[in-house]
Amino acid sequence: MNIIFLGPPGAGKGTIAALAKEVLSIPHISTGDIFRAAIKNETPLGKQVKSILASGELVPDALTIDLVNERLKEDDTSGGYILDGFPRTIPQAEALETFADIDFVINFTVERDMIIRRLSGRRIAKESGKVYHIIYNPPRVEGICDITGESLIQREDDKEEAVVNRLEVYERQTEPLIEYYTEKGLIRNVDGSDTPEKVLASFLAVIGVDKS
Ligand code: AP5
Repeated sequence: MNIIFLGPPGAGKGTIAALAKEVLSIPHISTGDIFRAAIKNETPLGKQVKSILASGELVPDALTIDLVNERLKEDDTSGGYILDGFPRTIPQAEALETFADIDFVINFTVERDMIIRRLSGRRIAKESGKVYHIIYNPPRVEGICDITGESLIQREDDKEEAVVNRLEVYERQTEPLIEYYTEKGLIRNVDGSDTPEKVLASFLAVIGVDKS
């Protein structure tokens, strides 16, 4: 099954994808994670996109489309995948159609005040990649990753100014994809405001997978 996770920043796309990939045994492909790994490793791509991510703007379409096109050629995608954070613009969605067949587009819905609470409390571990929340999903020891023992940090784009911009960018450039995919009959709405376990269960139900 080839699935797109759509929804505003902080809707829980990454959190649910991390759970769903285990249930469905398919890879979780997050363009945000790919860019953040490139920045951490100081690759040419990382240097190119660092300031774009920090500001909350989008990376240029052509670059992002090529990156996803290449990633989807890898062997682990043959049984399906979850695309998290791609496409994010109409040109990206149109390009995706030329190299992928999508079965479902999951639109995670969450109220704006909850988005702000989730993003302002998010903390990440750079080495392990694990995502925490200071209230909703705290580590065992405050500020320390359960897996690696590294110090948790706040994403540069979770700071207030960037969050406001990311929400504007989402509304302007990404929200039109809901209509785009509704017209294609691919959209499934999932309430993202419940606990991760309940959101996961709703997601599996809308794609017709019985978890039991
Ligand atoms: P990306 O990493 O994709 O950011 P995003 O879409 O803004 O999504 P987030 O990672 O902020 O949120 P999420 O929905 O995954 O929430 P999460 O599960 O972490 O992209 C970053 C940047 O990369 C972009 O701004 C852009 O610059 C660039 N980029 C990426 N893709 C691109 C593309 N296609 N084109 C161009 N540029 C691109 O959850 C958030 C918090 O809430 C966490 O702390 C979590 O623990 C908590 N939480 C989650 N779910 C729940 C729940 N159910 N209950 C309680 N707490 C929860």
